[in-house]
Amino acid sequence: MDGFSQSEIQQIAGFVRKIAKAPNVEAVISEAFIILKGIADIDRVRIVYSPSPSKWTEWKADKHKIEVRPHEEWPPPEKKSVSVPFDPENNHCGFISTNNKGDKVLPSLEIIAPEVWSGLLLQSALARVQRAAVSETELVRATLRARDEERGHIARELHDDLGQSLASLKLTLKWAEDLARPHLRMETIAKQLEAARQDVGVMLDKIRDLSHTLYPRVLDTLGLVPAMKELAHQVARHSPITVECNTRGRPCSLGKDIDIALYRCCQEAINNAIRHAEASNLVIRIEFARNEVRVAVEDDGKGFDPRNLYDSNSRMMSSGFWTIRQRMADLGAAFRLSTAEGRGTVVEMMVPYSSRKIHGRKNKTTHRG
Ligand SMILES: Nc1ncnc2c1ncn2[C@@H]1O[C@H](COP(=O)(O)OP(=O)(O)OP(=O)(O)O)[C@@H](O)[C@H]1O
Ligand SMILES: [Mg+2]
Repeated sequence: MDGFSQSEIQQIAGFVRKIAKAPNVEAVISEAFIILKGIADIDRVRIVYSPSPSKWTEWKADKHKIEVRPHEEWPPPEKKSVSVPFDPENNHCGFISTNNKGDKVLPSLEIIAPEVWSGLLLQSALARVQRAAVSETELVRATLRARDEERGHIARELHDDLGQSLASLKLTLKWAEDLARPHLRMETIAKQLEAARQDVGVMLDKIRDLSHTLYPRVLDTLGLVPAMKELAHQVARHSPITVECNTRGRPCSLGKDIDIALYRCCQEAINNAIRHAEASNLVIRIEFARNEVRVAVEDDGKGFDPRNLYDSNSRMMSSGFWTIRQRMADLGAAFRLSTAEGRGTVVEMMVPYSSRKIHGRKNKTTHRG
């Protein structure tokens, strides 16, 4: 580093340290500009680089502004300028140049150029990661939405189509049974018909329950609270667990997307309690507070160590809780899991009323199939 004073060396070192943490490309360029200006008294820096061979981008920094300009092809360095490539092995990656030819300019450019290059590369890699994360979230959101729509569709088919056919078969059986019963010899046939009618009745109940599990129509017609009470009732009917559903505050309409998300998350938490908890009591609490609606599903079962839900990279592996978390994140809502071995489990969801605005707008373009 011949020719540089101690303070200049410190300035360059500080720049190199900062560049790794620079929040964006413009910050990288401004840092480069400031350091070059300080050391070599230059008033203009030009930086051209390409994150991919087909796309060039040029930045120009001067006292007042930093220009960002895309380039179709490799632009030549300016004739009178001093310039160094970012990467001496492959100078097509880009270059940094200035119009000042002072004796300190070239050595300082040589130090700064590779740092700018790695800063820029880091930034474009970060931007790619961010884009990938956004599209992953969108994919998850679309998948959950498609699943809800598909469930709604199957529920309607079961209820309207299959349900109606079975209901009319039940009536036909009753009619045949009534006709056969007064004739003595037909009594056996009447008994068979009666048994068949009862079987059809059981099938109808099962279809109604299944249709309700897939998509509770009451959610559309009466809203979240009656749908949750109905769910609690259904669970209590089919399992030995005591189920309670309590509400607090004045219920208000949350919109279909929020209703369905909360309903699905409660369904998952309840299913978990039935399948894994060995609980005796299950309480569903819905509270319409001032700024948010809070829904909690609490069981008095065996609980578990929540660390088991994550892999060694702290990624959530289990699909039920992952979906709850994703649905809540999608609403801008919070999700909390409180559990420990031997201490029961509480799954809580807190949805701010402000989520309604965003999802209300989406609802207008969303229709369930
Ligand atoms: N209420 C609960 N009581 C005790 N253990 C629970 C409870 N809820 C979840 N668990 C434990 O947490 C694990 C993860 O739950 P999660 O819902 O994410 O997945 P799953 O129920 O195993 O599978 P899936 O929901 O995809 O069918 C469960 O396997 C179980 O060990
Ligand atoms: Mg589960």
